[in-house]
Amino acid sequence: MRIVLSLGGSLLTGVFSSDNFVRYAEVIKTISDKGHKLIVVVGGGKIARDYIDIADGFDASDFDKDYVAIKLTWANAALFASALGDYAETKINISYDDIAEQFNSTDKVVVCGGIAPGQSTDGVSSKLARAIGADMVINATNVPGVYDSDPRVNISAKKCDALTFDEFRKIISKNEQAPGKYGLFDLAGIDILQDENIDLVVIDATNPREILQTVNGEQKGTLISSGE
Ligand code: UTP
Repeated sequence: MRIVLSLGGSLLTGVFSSDNFVRYAEVIKTISDKGHKLIVVVGGGKIARDYIDIADGFDASDFDKDYVAIKLTWANAALFASALGDYAETKINISYDDIAEQFNSTDKVVVCGGIAPGQSTDGVSSKLARAIGADMVINATNVPGVYDSDPRVNISAKKCDALTFDEFRKIISKNEQAPGKYGLFDLAGIDILQDENIDLVVIDATNPREILQTVNGEQKGTLISSGE
């Protein structure tokens, strides 16, 4: 399969240690060994949000905050590519065309970060999924899946096992779309995946093995599809 994995920075850098990078790298290596082709889009995590907060303190524009945060995603991506060693291309490309070309010219894992202000790495993942004709996008987060309402506000919120893109859009349309706060998924990204009919799976990958289980068709999170 051709897979784009949106790897939340909060997972990869939440515990900022070599061991944590290796935990995720081992799972990606196993998936690659099974013959799947992967692009891993790495998020910014806490360090990106710290930079955004500093920029907030002097009223930087949203464009500038996004611009700074993107650089942190590149640093996280380079570090993760290094953790993958020979399994990954070392070069972190920063345009859709270059990343798609890199993907099409190698059997190794391709790693990248953010690309342009005004979106999150989930938006990047959706655009890359379209560019490479991906079979699936996996959104690796630290929540069990998509809930029918905000579980932090509504204690009876229910986790959804499957949703259509229209249902998913309705649920997350109330989310803020601002630097460091693009929420569970980037709204523009949903439109792309729906148009291209590419399945999206939102999973809790606090335990990285959940990523492997998802690739094996045993996902526990939420499958978002056209519902056909
Ligand atoms: P993400 O919000 O995608 O990072 O990118 P993340 O770390 O995966 O999110 P969590 O913490 O796990 O939920 C970090 C920030 O980088 C900027 C945005 O400000 C975004 O919030 N960014 C990222 C862009 O402006 N453009 C991009 O293409 C990607």
